[in-house]
Amino acid sequence: MTLATLAEVLKKANKGNYAVGAFNTSNLEVTKAIIDAAELQDAPVILQTSVGGLNYAGFDYLFSIAKTAAADPGVPVVLHLDHCADLKLIKKCIDAGYSSVMFDGSLLPFEKNVELTKQVVKMAREKNVSVEAELGTIGGAEDTVKSRRIIYTDPQKASEFAAETEIDALAIAIGTSHGAYKFNDSTNQLDIKRLSTIKKATQMPLVLHGASVVPRDLVSLSQDFGAILGSVQGVSEKELKKSVKNGINKVNVDTDLRLAFTAALRQSIMKNPREFDPRKLLLPSIQLMQNIVEGRIKLLGSSGKA
Ligand code: G3H
Ligand code: 13P
Ligand code: ZN
Repeated sequence: MTLATLAEVLKKANKGNYAVGAFNTSNLEVTKAIIDAAELQDAPVILQTSVGGLNYAGFDYLFSIAKTAAADPGVPVVLHLDHCADLKLIKKCIDAGYSSVMFDGSLLPFEKNVELTKQVVKMAREKNVSVEAELGTIGGAEDTVKSRRIIYTDPQKASEFAAETEIDALAIAIGTSHGAYKFNDSTNQLDIKRLSTIKKATQMPLVLHGASVVPRDLVSLSQDFGAILGSVQGVSEKELKKSVKNGINKVNVDTDLRLAFTAALRQSIMKNPREFDPRKLLLPSIQLMQNIVEGRIKLLGSSGKA
C-alpha cells in the first residue's frame, strides 16, 4: 500500500487552485463509495476517520478497511485522522500507517495550541506523515471535540501559527459548523473576505470543515421515507465554489454522506418489505453516496487531477 500524504496532494491543489474532498468513513459501505467515486473521477481523495468513527468500528477493523481500500486504487489516497486532541491516539495512527493526522487544539489557548501542534509535527515528520491543525473554532459538535460557538480565525494569528508550527494544512473558521444545522438565517454566507486575507497572509493549503451542502433532494428523500428533520441548512454550492476560488484546498464532508446513506436505506427498506438481506438493502446507499462524492469532486475542481 502506498498512501499519498496530505502535504503532496494539497501542495498540488494549492498551486492549481482547486480543492480535494476529504470524506469521513466509519465502515465498509462508506469507504467503498468514496474510493469508487474517486476512481471514476480520476481524482485524489482524502479518506478520513474521526475518533468517534474509530470508537464505533474499532481501530483495527476500520484501519484495515481503509488500508485495503487504498491498496491499489489508481488514484492518490490520503488516509487521515480527523479532529484529534489525544496525542496517544495520534501516535498510534502514525505508527500504524496513516499518512496524515489532524491535531485539534482549537479549544486551547493559542500558545498551548502552538506547543502541542509542534510536538505532533515532530512526531509525524519522523515517519513522513502530514499534519493539519486548527485555529479558530468551527461550530457544531463532533463526538469528542465539543464547541458550539464559532470563533472566527484571526488572519495575523493564522500566519504566526503556521510559521511557528510548520504544519502542512491549516483548518480555519469562516462561518461553517459541523452537522446538518449550520445557519440560523437564510443568508448562509461565509466570511470570504477573511478567507482571502488568511490566504494572502499564509499562502498555505487551507481547510474548510463543516462543508456539507445538505442537498434539498437528500432532505426530501429522507423525509419522504419517515425522517424527521428540523430546519436543516448546509453550505450552498455557490459559497463552496467561492471558498475554493479564494484559497480553500481541502473540503471536509461527513453529514452529506450520512444523509445519503440513511435516505437510501430508509427508501430501500420501505419499498422492499419482503427483503431482509442487508447486502441488497444497502446497495442503493453505496450508489447514492458515490454519486454525492462524485458531484462534490467535480464541484471542487479535483476531477481529472489524480
Ligand atoms: O468532524 C466532524 C465529523 O462529522 C465527525 O463526526 O465525531 O460524530 O464521527 P463524529
Ligand atoms: P460536515 O458535518 O459539514 O459534513 O463536516 C464534516 C467535517 O468537518 C469533518 O471534519
Ligand atoms: Zn471537522
